[in-house]
Amino acid sequence: MYAGAKALFYALSRSARLKRLASTYGMRSRDSFARRFIAGETIDEAIETSRSIQAQGLSLTLDYLGESVHTVEEADAATREYVRLLQVIVAAGIERNVSLKLTQLGAGIDRATCVDNLRRILEPAGRHRFFVRIDMENSPWTQVTLDIFETLWQQNYRNIGVALQSALYRTEQDVRRMNELGARVRLVKGAYKEPKSVAHKRKADVDAAFVRLMQLLLDSGNYPAIATHDPAMIEATRQYAQQRGVGKDRFEFQMLYGIRRDLQGTLAAAGYGMRLYIPFGREWFPYFMRRLGERPANLGFVMRGILREQ
Ligand code: FDA
Repeated sequence: MYAGAKALFYALSRSARLKRLASTYGMRSRDSFARRFIAGETIDEAIETSRSIQAQGLSLTLDYLGESVHTVEEADAATREYVRLLQVIVAAGIERNVSLKLTQLGAGIDRATCVDNLRRILEPAGRHRFFVRIDMENSPWTQVTLDIFETLWQQNYRNIGVALQSALYRTEQDVRRMNELGARVRLVKGAYKEPKSVAHKRKADVDAAFVRLMQLLLDSGNYPAIATHDPAMIEATRQYAQQRGVGKDRFEFQMLYGIRRDLQGTLAAAGYGMRLYIPFGREWFPYFMRRLGERPANLGFVMRGILREQ
């Protein structure tokens, strides 16, 4: 079921017809179904959401949605949009933290273009003291992402961190490398459909790996982010931190906007750092489908939403 639902929703996420249907209804009004997971299509909407998140005492990272661009022009446009986002965030006075995907900046076109584009974002980000998190995409991009990350790290861009996925067999080695560099890691389970040759297929194995990696990060990582909605993973983290004397100021939890708001509040109230990943932008469909794939029960509210809108 775990891998099956992901595979089904991955296949559906490539359907142009479904994308058209969802795009027509998903964001039409304030209570349209896609708004549950996506802050809106414009920067202004994202800023408005960010303000209300901050008012609840939560931290945030803003993500301008988009991935797998095919042309240099699209990669350039995404880069310019990120630079504009940084300016708007500074002007709005909200927390300076963004997340991005390298295939949005041209990793799939050529690596040099992507490195240049990333540098165009990291320059102003550094000047304005932003933290920039590089999301991890599916496994064909793991090594590319880490290579580009290290290229920039070695050029002294230190306001960056990366996401690593417990689903992949290779991740322990990647966590050790990031710990050695002193780079900040966001640990996630992994949102993509992956082949058995590179990734655990059973949820129990992904979870067991998550716990091992969390321990490695709490023991020797630099302010790791434990990004999950899974109460068992969160409890394991709390217990391990307590047992090892790792203070609440030495790591944080992260969750996705719109998921398990109850838990977000509980953790923040208990004094843990709690950061929300807030996605926005017109290219929300693949992100949205990954969220449905994680919890097919969410399909019910989508269907009800479409029927209501028609
Ligand atoms: P799991 O999927 O086992 O779910 C545990 C529980 O959480 C469920 O029982 C349910 O209660 C709740 N839940 C989970 N997903 C839900 C949903 N969609 N709707 C409603 N409830 C849900 N992945 C990646 O590959 N690269 C990346 O860069 C990132 N970045 C990222 C940032 C942040 C801040 C988070 C929280 C997650 C990511 N992810 C990611 C996604 C991650 O890999 C994973 O797919 C999701 O977090 C779901 O896994 P959980 O750890 O929540 O556990």
